[in-house]
Amino acid sequence: MQTRPPEDFDYYEALAILEWQVELGADEAICEAPLDAYALPDKIDPVRAPVAAPERGAKPVAPVVQQAVQEGPDPVLVAREAAGRCETLEALAEAMDAFDLCDLKKGARQTVFADGNPKARLMIIGEAPGRDEDLQGKPFVGRAGQLLDRMFGAIGLSRTAPDSEAALYITNTLPWRPPGNRDPEPDELAMLLPFLRRHVELADPDVIVLMGNAACAAALGKRGILRLRGQWVEAFGKPCLPMTHPAYLLRNAAAKREAWADLLEIRARLGG
Ligand code: URA
Repeated sequence: MQTRPPEDFDYYEALAILEWQVELGADEAICEAPLDAYALPDKIDPVRAPVAAPERGAKPVAPVVQQAVQEGPDPVLVAREAAGRCETLEALAEAMDAFDLCDLKKGARQTVFADGNPKARLMIIGEAPGRDEDLQGKPFVGRAGQLLDRMFGAIGLSRTAPDSEAALYITNTLPWRPPGNRDPEPDELAMLLPFLRRHVELADPDVIVLMGNAACAAALGKRGILRLRGQWVEAFGKPCLPMTHPAYLLRNAAAKREAWADLLEIRARLGG
């Protein structure tokens, strides 16, 4: 059997292995490295070795897991305080990069903060980085991002425009890639929300696009993008338009018609 050294495992693989061991009943780490009891017959008697019996009916939980559940500061409060201290977008990017209480950070290559022109009148809030964004450190650079660029290009807006009227500013609800591109969890959205709120305050756009369900969940506390899309709502003290996510449009070409109507609505709201 081929074995892999521990440093080869990423955070999520290691966590999955730990959870599997807990399920099998392991409730204590005796040594840092495993001992092959069969190779040490004189020194260890695995039959007589004392094993702490779990309480009857109690589900065994590894100490490290217990600690994560029971102890530590409230991540939402820590995020709120850290975000509140930031007076510039640069400071906010640094504060998010230094925030260690979200497990997603451990599995991500880098913190994906924003892209485009922070002076833009229009700010887009997407979901979370995917594989390409995690590699490049910028939001919306994969296939969905290329479609997003074409969609907003069609109404004269681009992330590279120096002029605030023609510019786009883009961020996400979460700055770290969820494993396997799964949907963000409600506790992750809640934990990073103070940073998102401060991001909007500092960028101060005129109009926001909430791109997909995660953005609506974070900003409005609501899901159901197919019902919400196309209707102006207020969040963060700004007019916001929920839109279907470009990743959805890549899978459902028929929905592009409504997305085009939403783009025209944005164009009209910005004037011109
Ligand atoms: N999808 C998103 O919502 N954000 C990204 O940055 C990439 C894909």
